[in-house]
Amino acid sequence: MSSTTGMFAIANPRIAVTRRIPEPALELLRETADVWVSPHDRPLDTDELHRAIAGADAAVTLLHDRVDAACLDAAGPQLRCVANVAVGYDNIDARAAAQRGVIVTNTPGVLTDATADLAMALILNVTRRLGEGERRIRSGRPWSWDMFFLLGHGLAGKTLGVIGLGAIGQATAHRARAFGMEIVYSARRRALPDVEQALGGARALELDELLARAAVVSIHCPLTPQTRHLIDARRLTLMDSDAYLVNTARGPIVDERALAQALRAGSIAGAALDVFEHEPAVHPGLLELDNVVLIPHLGSATIETRTAMAVLAARNAIAVLAGQPPPTPVSPG
Ligand code: DGY
Repeated sequence: MSSTTGMFAIANPRIAVTRRIPEPALELLRETADVWVSPHDRPLDTDELHRAIAGADAAVTLLHDRVDAACLDAAGPQLRCVANVAVGYDNIDARAAAQRGVIVTNTPGVLTDATADLAMALILNVTRRLGEGERRIRSGRPWSWDMFFLLGHGLAGKTLGVIGLGAIGQATAHRARAFGMEIVYSARRRALPDVEQALGGARALELDELLARAAVVSIHCPLTPQTRHLIDARRLTLMDSDAYLVNTARGPIVDERALAQALRAGSIAGAALDVFEHEPAVHPGLLELDNVVLIPHLGSATIETRTAMAVLAARNAIAVLAGQPPPTPVSPG
C-alpha cells in the first residue's frame, strides 16, 4: 500500500488513457506527460485494463472501466490519480483508491445541461409516443391522420417526480417547469428553500409517495449500493397506470426485468431509458415492447459536452501530477 497522499510534482509522469478521448484533452495531457492512449475502439477487458495502467502515474478512465482494488494494485504504488471522464463514478472503488493514496476525480457540471436536455427529450418522446410513430412510418405499414391515432399525454399541469435533486435533477426540473409541470422530489437531503422556490415550490416527498403521485418519474441519483434496484417490482406497482418512468442516471437503479413486466402488463404507461442494467445489453423483454424508448447512453453525447468532460478530466490528472488540488475530486465516501 502506498503512502503517497502528500502533494508533490512528479517528474516525467506517465498517463494512461483507456480509450480515445477528444483531441483538446489529449493535447493538454501531452504538454505535461508521456501519454499512452488505448489503440482499441472498444472498452478494454480486465487484463488489458490492468496492463494498460500498470506503471502509470495517472489513469484517465471511462465509465465502462472497472477500477477496483485489483486494478489499483495492478497499476502499482506510483499511481496518483484516476480521472474518470464521467460525473458518475460507480465504476471506481473510491475507498480502495483512497486507501492507496490515489485521488479520484469526476466531471460534474460540464454535462448538466446536455443530460437534462436529453432527459426532457425522453420525457417528451415517451409521453408523445414519438418512437412508436417513427417505427410505424419506417415499417411501411399504412397510416393516416386519425382522431385517435397514437394519442399520448400532455405535460401541462402534471407532476414530475425527480429522484435525486442534484444539478442534473434540478436542471431537468427547470426544463419541465417550462412545460407547465409541478415538481416533487425525493432526495437524501431536503433541498434549500431557494432551490425549492426556484422550482415553483417543489415539494420533498418520501420515494413511495412520489411514485404514487407523479405522472412522470425521472431518475437522477447516483448508483450506490443503496440505490441499486431502487425501482423494483414493488415500487413499480405504486405508480399510476398512466405514469411514465425515465432513467438517464445509471441502469442498475431500475430492476429491468420488473420494468419489462410492468410495461407488458400495462401497470405503467411507458418508460424511456438511456442507461441499462447490463450495458450494452438490454433486457430482451424490453426490446419487444412498443411503450419503451431505448437510447444508447447518450446523456452527455454532444461534441461540446464530451470535449468539456475530457478536458476537465485532463485538468484533474494534470493538477494531481503537479502536486496541486484537482478541480473536481470525489469524496471516498
Ligand atoms: C456520466 O458522466 O456519468 C454520464 O453517464 C456519461 O454520459
